[in-house]
Amino acid sequence: MELRNVRLDDVDAYVRMRCDPAMMAELGGPQPADRMPDKVRRDVAEAEADLSWIQMIVPDPADPAEVAGSVVIWAHELAGTPISEIGWMVLPEYQGRGYAKRAVRQLLARARHERRWGKVHAFPGVGNAASNGVCRSVGFRLLGPTDTEYAGQTLRTNHWAMDPATDLAS
Ligand SMILES: CC(C)(COP(=O)(O)OP(=O)(O)OC[C@H]1O[C@@H](n2cnc3c(N)ncnc32)[C@H](O)[C@@H]1OP(=O)(O)O)[C@@H](O)C(=O)NCCC(=O)NCCS
Repeated sequence: MELRNVRLDDVDAYVRMRCDPAMMAELGGPQPADRMPDKVRRDVAEAEADLSWIQMIVPDPADPAEVAGSVVIWAHELAGTPISEIGWMVLPEYQGRGYAKRAVRQLLARARHERRWGKVHAFPGVGNAASNGVCRSVGFRLLGPTDTEYAGQTLRTNHWAMDPATDLAS
């Protein structure tokens, strides 16, 4: 498995991740497919400018167009305070095979190596057993439940945080 920057030809993978009701059940429901080409264009520009790390999970490095999911770290403000947040998705045919855990661990190891992002936060839905499992197993600490705004909706989430320099599980 390897991680690579999002590319303009990842529109199909975005549609399969973000416009599918099952994939988006814990993330406020599916998004309109006709918005994906523009979303990919904006994400490619943001990744190329190194403003965010927007990485696609590639199961076989010999076939970089085949994508299992994505893992992203970005900066934003939470109640007026700047924070770094990580999020991830794995397509149904690749779920339950450790891709999310390995991809999240790999991106956090890069953050540790490059001394980038400081403390990293994650907000999986309270009922999202697999994503809460990812947080637990890579070394996040659970701070407690909180409401999170995502795509214009309020979601009930768990707030996890870690400092990759000291907390990343091997
Ligand atoms: C959540 C998601 C990313 C998990 O990806 P995955 O590659 O299947 O997860 P992994 O195989 O790396 O498993 C991660 C952990 O969760 C556990 N797990 C996996 N599927 C599970 C399930 N359905 N129920 C309970 N635990 C589960 C694994 O055992 C592992 O824990 P462990 O280290 O203690 O063994 C994926 O299912 C997904 O993208 N879902 C839809 C979108 C979404 O919810 N995104 C996350 C928003 S925060």
